[in-house]
Amino acid sequence: MTTTLLSLRNLFLDNRSVPDAERYARIEAAEAGWIVPLVAELEAAAPVLATRADWLAELKSLLDSEKGGAPSSRFIAEEATLAEFTTVVLEFAPDGLTEAQNFFPAVARLPIRAQMAVMRVMIDEFGCGNIAQAHSQLYRDLLAELGLPTELPDVLADTNDETFAFLNSFYWMASRAVDVEYFLGALAYLEAAIPDAFAFQARACERLGLAHGRYYTEHIHIDDFHMKEMQTAIKEYEAVHGINPTKLVVGARLLSSLLGSAVDAAVAKAVARSGR
Ligand SMILES: [Fe+2]
Ligand SMILES: [Fe+2]
Repeated sequence: MTTTLLSLRNLFLDNRSVPDAERYARIEAAEAGWIVPLVAELEAAAPVLATRADWLAELKSLLDSEKGGAPSSRFIAEEATLAEFTTVVLEFAPDGLTEAQNFFPAVARLPIRAQMAVMRVMIDEFGCGNIAQAHSQLYRDLLAELGLPTELPDVLADTNDETFAFLNSFYWMASRAVDVEYFLGALAYLEAAIPDAFAFQARACERLGLAHGRYYTEHIHIDDFHMKEMQTAIKEYEAVHGINPTKLVVGARLLSSLLGSAVDAAVAKAVARSGR
């Protein structure tokens, strides 16, 4: 990643702390030099869309283009050794262990019926209040099986900037982006993309004989419902405030590019470490 002056790690740590005025100013300055121009760039390149149907068509074409998976995803599914897959799982631990926590601020910014749809997603993310089913716990189970640390401070030792960028983007979209449509578009994309995206990791777990691949298979199952709930959320948002479909697409493209880079960087690290 070309970001030089900005520490995406420090931004992540700030995002997860109680923000006094100084810290909040630091977060805003970091975002102003990173994600704000990135989103402006994506917005300038995005098609100007008029309706929710236009957004759905655009989303479908983005998802179709990603269906076969990037070379890094196919590598995970078909070739990664246990040690290489372990590196990838550790790389995404800061995401798995904090899953969906950074979505909460967006909920309060939505009209009530849209809140209900997003809350139905959140309830599943948090295992309907049952720790054994919480997605973060499913990830913890996988980390434990691989002999990796299972608490957040212990998995941050050498996390890639690309992973921090992916994580930090949701803090901005949920809390500070004036238009909450970026968040809605990004999450609608993510929930729709994950069943295909996680099929690669699920295949790796099966191939490597891991017992705790459920983190991935559960997402393949449940995110189909979450994708529909996010469409409901967007419909309900539109009913109250109207919708800017271009901003939904920008959110999707932002997430697609950040997540794609994070997976590529994780695999590159795994391969470099294994010395193949
Ligand atoms: Fe999840
Ligand atoms: Fe989900």
